[in-house]
Amino acid sequence: KNILFLASEAVPFIKTGGLADVVGSLPRSIDKAYFDARIMIPKYMCMREEDRYNLEYVTHFYMDYLGQSRYVGVLKKEVDGILYYFIDNEYYFSGNRPYGNWYWDLEKFCFFSYAALSALPLLDFHPDVIHCHDWQTGLVPVLLKDRFAGGEFFRSIRSVFTIHNLRFQGTWDRKTIQRFTELSDYYFTPDKLEYKKDGNLLKGGLVYADAITTVSKTYAKEIQTEFYGEGLEGLLQARDRDLRGIVNGIDYDIWNPKRDPYLPYPYDKVSVHKEKAKNKTALQESLGLSVSEDTMLISIISRLTDQKGLDLIERVFDELCQDAVQFVILGTGEDRYENLFRYFAWKYPDRVSAQIYYSEEISHRIYAGSDAFLMPSLFEPCGLSQLISLRYGTIPIVRETGGLRDTVEPYNEYEKKGTGFSFANYNAHEMMASVRYAERIYYDDKRSWRGIINRAMKKDFSWKSSALQYQELYDWLVERN
Ligand code: ADP
Ligand code: GLC
Repeated sequence: KNILFLASEAVPFIKTGGLADVVGSLPRSIDKAYFDARIMIPKYMCMREEDRYNLEYVTHFYMDYLGQSRYVGVLKKEVDGILYYFIDNEYYFSGNRPYGNWYWDLEKFCFFSYAALSALPLLDFHPDVIHCHDWQTGLVPVLLKDRFAGGEFFRSIRSVFTIHNLRFQGTWDRKTIQRFTELSDYYFTPDKLEYKKDGNLLKGGLVYADAITTVSKTYAKEIQTEFYGEGLEGLLQARDRDLRGIVNGIDYDIWNPKRDPYLPYPYDKVSVHKEKAKNKTALQESLGLSVSEDTMLISIISRLTDQKGLDLIERVFDELCQDAVQFVILGTGEDRYENLFRYFAWKYPDRVSAQIYYSEEISHRIYAGSDAFLMPSLFEPCGLSQLISLRYGTIPIVRETGGLRDTVEPYNEYEKKGTGFSFANYNAHEMMASVRYAERIYYDDKRSWRGIINRAMKKDFSWKSSALQYQELYDWLVERN
C-alpha cells in the first residue's frame, strides 16, 4: 500500500516544531514490507542551501490557480530509504522562514494543496492514502471529495487528517477563504468550512477526511470539550467514531544517549548515574553557570509561547530562583518570555542561563546534562520534549494535560512508581509545589531519584507501537473501500 504524507514541514529539511519531527520520523517506522510511505512538502527558499541544491528534478507543469497559470516544479530526494517530494514555486515558497504571515500563508497552502494533488498523476506513485497534517493541508480532503473526485486516479484515494495543534486553524473572512480555495458556495455553511461566518481550512480537513487522528489519547478526548476544543468541539464530538488518539514517538537513533555524537559523555541506563553529572558540569561550564555536580539543574527547551505554560513560570520564577537549583532555558518565541529569561539570567548569572536561539546540538547537551525538565503546558497535543527527557534520564515535571498526561507517570513515593512529577491545575503555585517536591526527592532521597531515572529510561517511546496503530488505520481505510 502506498501512503503519502503531505505536510508543511519535515525533518531533516525544514522544522518549526514537533510536527516536522513526526512527519520526518513516522514514515521511517512504517513497515516497508507492506507500505511504501513517502513525504511531500514545499521546497522553501529558507531550507539549507546544500539541501536545496541537491534535489533531483522529477517534472514540472503549469496549473491554473487564482486566474493565473502557475509553475509547479516537483523534485525529490531519498533520505535513509524514504523518498521526499518537494513542490517548487518561488513565488509562494520564498522568504526567510517557511511561514508566519497568516494572510499570505493561507494562499500559500491552498496553492500547495492544489499543486500537490495535481502533481500526483505525473509521479510513478499512486497513493492509497494521503495522510494530511494540520491546517496547512486541511483543504486536501475537501478537494479529494470535490475537484479531484471525478477521475479514476483519485477515486480510490482515502485521506487521514492528523491534528497536531488545534489552535491554528487557517481562518480568514469567508470571502477570502472562498477565493483561495476556489470552492463553491456549497462549502461555506456552518456544517462545512464556515466557522462563525469565517472560512476555516482546518475544519475542511475535519469534516471531509475519512479518518481523523490526533497525537495522544488524552488530547483526543480533551478536544471534544469546550476548554480545549477551540470552538470545534461540537464537530469533533460528532466525528468521535472516526477520531483516534495515537501517541507520538521519537526517533530512537537520533535521540540515543549512548550514541549521541553531541554529548561529551555518552551514557546508557547503567552508566547514567555516573555520566550524567559529568555532562552536567561540562554544560554548566559552557553556559557560565557555577559548576557543581550536586546542584539540581532544571531545563526548559521550548517554543516560548503561551501554549507551553510560560506564564506560570513567569509568576513564580523569582521565588524558584531562591531555591538551591539552577535553570537553563533554550528557546525562542514571544518577546515577553525571551526577555523574562534574559532578565533572570542577568539577575542570577550563576543560577540561570538563557539561550535564546534555536540549536539542535545544544538541545542534546541540555537534555543530557540536566536533572529535570520543566513543561507546565496549558495544552499539549503530545509533546516530544518530555519523551526525549525520559530517554535521557532527565525527569519531567509537567502539567497533566494531553500527551504529557499520557506519557509521564507521576512519582508515587509509597509504591516507588512513576517516571516524573506532575500537577493537575493550571496554577503557578501548584507547579511550584511540584518543582519543590522534585527538589526534595533529588536532594534528600537520592535512592528514590535514581529509581525514577531507572524507570524513565526503561520506558519505550520509540515509534514501534504507534507506527503499528497507523498501519492498522491505513489498512482499515483501504480495505473498507
Ligand atoms: P511543539 O511542536 O509544540 O513545539 P514538541 O514538544 O512536540 O512541541 O516538539 C518540540 C521540538 O522542538 C522538540 O524536539 C524540542 O527539543 C525542539 N525545540 C524547541 N525549541 C528548540 C530550540 N530553541 N532549540 C532546539 N530545539 C528546540
Ligand atoms: C504540535 C504540538 C505538540 C506535538 C507536535 C507533534 O506542535 O504542539 O504537542 O508533539 O505537534 O505532533
